[in-house]
Amino acid sequence: MNNITYHAAQSPLDAIPAGIHCAQDYEMLAHRFMAHPVHEYIAGGSGRDCTVQANLDAYAHWSVVPRLLRDVTGGHTQLAMAGTSFAHPIFLAPVAFQRLAHVHGEMETARAAQATESCLVASTLASVSMEETARVAGPQRWFQLYMQPQRNVTRDLLRRAEAAGYGAIVVTLDASVQAASLRALRAEFLRPTDCIAVNLAGYNMSADAGAPTAGSRIFQGIMRQAPVWADLEWLMTQTTLPIWVKGVLHRDDAVMLKDKGVAGLVVSNHGGRSLDGAPASLHVLPAIRAAVGADFPLLLDGGIRSGSDVFKALALGANAVMIGRLQMYALSIAGALGVAHMIQLLREELELCMAMAGCTTLKEIDRHALVAANMPYA
Ligand SMILES: Cc1cc2nc3c(=O)[nH]c(=O)nc-3n(C[C@H](O)[C@H](O)[C@H](O)COP(=O)(O)O)c2cc1C
Repeated sequence: MNNITYHAAQSPLDAIPAGIHCAQDYEMLAHRFMAHPVHEYIAGGSGRDCTVQANLDAYAHWSVVPRLLRDVTGGHTQLAMAGTSFAHPIFLAPVAFQRLAHVHGEMETARAAQATESCLVASTLASVSMEETARVAGPQRWFQLYMQPQRNVTRDLLRRAEAAGYGAIVVTLDASVQAASLRALRAEFLRPTDCIAVNLAGYNMSADAGAPTAGSRIFQGIMRQAPVWADLEWLMTQTTLPIWVKGVLHRDDAVMLKDKGVAGLVVSNHGGRSLDGAPASLHVLPAIRAAVGADFPLLLDGGIRSGSDVFKALALGANAVMIGRLQMYALSIAGALGVAHMIQLLREELELCMAMAGCTTLKEIDRHALVAANMPYA
């Protein structure tokens, strides 16, 4: 941390700018509303951005086949998943330090979630506390947990999430160690002093966390603090809230996690911010769906920029999707209004795609609605 403030994060518009015609336009315009280092930190992934690019490219491997003459006037986007009903399948992914994008940060996103009936997943590393966010978010709110080296801190975070009315815990397991983002480094990004992980403030964290004793900085250093299977088993005894696991890319991990009794999985590569070179989340989704069976709850995130991307993810096996960067871009441009508008655009783009593909419900969206792009359709 350092003594920097990025003033661009404090001057969003109070109206939607004229240039926004689709959800992805928020990505196109965001660089005008953020200081360059902040934009690079958000847009970049780990290393050389190979996985960031793979996520984006994956959707172009599939085409949606239009259907004719079907009556879709009874159509809707309601989702029934894990015993809960959601108005639509577009969730707000956990994104840390949202005060980088807007002076009120997570408060604005939570208001947008409430206005658009979106499930909000609040990050452990939020720059507004989970209790404040919960006061303005809608009833569908989950808490994303980074397990802490001290179990008493993790346990306290769980108690606080329960008390604040979060309905599920999403434990992220793919970011114990992350390759640095070359884009952020080259732009000389440094997190400003007024943007801190407030949920973790006030705990007595051990001073030597992650410090190598001997040997490798990674194996014997950082990874010494990383959770292992026994920690997940312990976590599951510490709360009655459903536990989801975020960051799953291997079908064997998916099956083992299902067998452990987790409520659901998030197929994700952390938006390309963890292992650079990991596969696009969309590409591994069909194998994971096949491994866990048709009825097990699966979310997907990574690279979603349009309603047809959402449609493709659902067709390949996801029950719902989460949106990461687009929320930061919309937040920086027009605060809660921007995030709500971005979600509304995505939802309408999804509905448009459903109507043209002849689907009236999310359940009707399946693999048969797609063909591989650039392949003869047989
Ligand atoms: C700036 C930024 C911060 C993030 N912070 C978190 C976090 O605190 N916890 C987490 O589980 N994932 C975090 N993620 C990953 C997102 O939850 C999500 O997996 C990813 O952004 C999806 O890809 P997309 O940005 O292409 O939509 C973050 C992503 C970004 C871009």
